[in-house]
Amino acid sequence: MTASSGLAITIDRVTKRYADRLVLDDISFAITPGETVALIGPSGGGKSTLLRCINGLVPFEEGAVRVGEHTVAATNGSRPSGNANGADVRRLVGMVFQDFRLFPHLTALENVMEAPRRVGQVANGDAAQLAQRLLERVGLGDRGDAYPRQLSGGQQQRVAIARAMAMQPRGLLCDEITSALDPELKHEVLEVIEELKQDGLTLVLVTHEIGFARRAADRVVVLAGGKLIEEGPSAQVIDNPQVPRTQQFLSRLLA
Ligand SMILES: Nc1ncnc2c1ncn2[C@@H]1O[C@H](COP(=O)(O)OP(=O)(O)OP(=O)(O)O)[C@@H](O)[C@H]1O
Ligand SMILES: [Mg+2]
Repeated sequence: MTASSGLAITIDRVTKRYADRLVLDDISFAITPGETVALIGPSGGGKSTLLRCINGLVPFEEGAVRVGEHTVAATNGSRPSGNANGADVRRLVGMVFQDFRLFPHLTALENVMEAPRRVGQVANGDAAQLAQRLLERVGLGDRGDAYPRQLSGGQQQRVAIARAMAMQPRGLLCDEITSALDPELKHEVLEVIEELKQDGLTLVLVTHEIGFARRAADRVVVLAGGKLIEEGPSAQVIDNPQVPRTQQFLSRLLA
């Protein structure tokens, strides 16, 4: 979308609890600039929670996440939730969700313009131009006037990706962004993601699309029960998993 150099993201011994429930248990791994990592694993394993910890949307009790030069630190009980650096980090890494989360009362173009306009980063006219370029980039240059309800799921998701790109992030966190889509619409969204990868963005993709993960991801990280149980090059983990829990998960998914 724009020439961006990717961002290094390091997850260092992150532990997260909801009340007594241990949701992330001492998770560590590093993502190099421009790398695409697929995060896979059974439901409830902690994938969405980990994405939210990476961009400071939810606090965690132990460890740290480093995103470029920023550190999202653990909060202890006495501090309010959230993180001083959360807003900085969210400018550097965008996030896209399964259910699109577009503003229903704004057109596609206005949805994409919203964040740059809100933070006063660019003049209105420039925001509109940037938004139009981003819509063209996701194949929706002629649908800027449409409201979300007038767009297909795949089109809405592409608007959501364009919206995430409007802050010109250097990384993108995607949480099952094709799960709500028909197979054909999945394809058009996955194509956009592959282009962002070509552009050099750092991508973290939570996905159940194992074929896509194998093709597009450089590395696969498997989370189960809050633990990182396996990681490695995507073809290796997917074709030849070493850990029984990974084997079981993949065989059920592919059955
Ligand atoms: N806000 C919350 N309050 C309490 N518990 C939560 C909250 N959000 C998530 N959890 C719990 O944390 C655990 C991990 O949830 P998470 O959504 O991260 O899993 P996931 O791997 O994304 O699963 P799925 O594949 O179903 O999306 C689950 O046990 C879930 O019930
Ligand atoms: Mg999830």
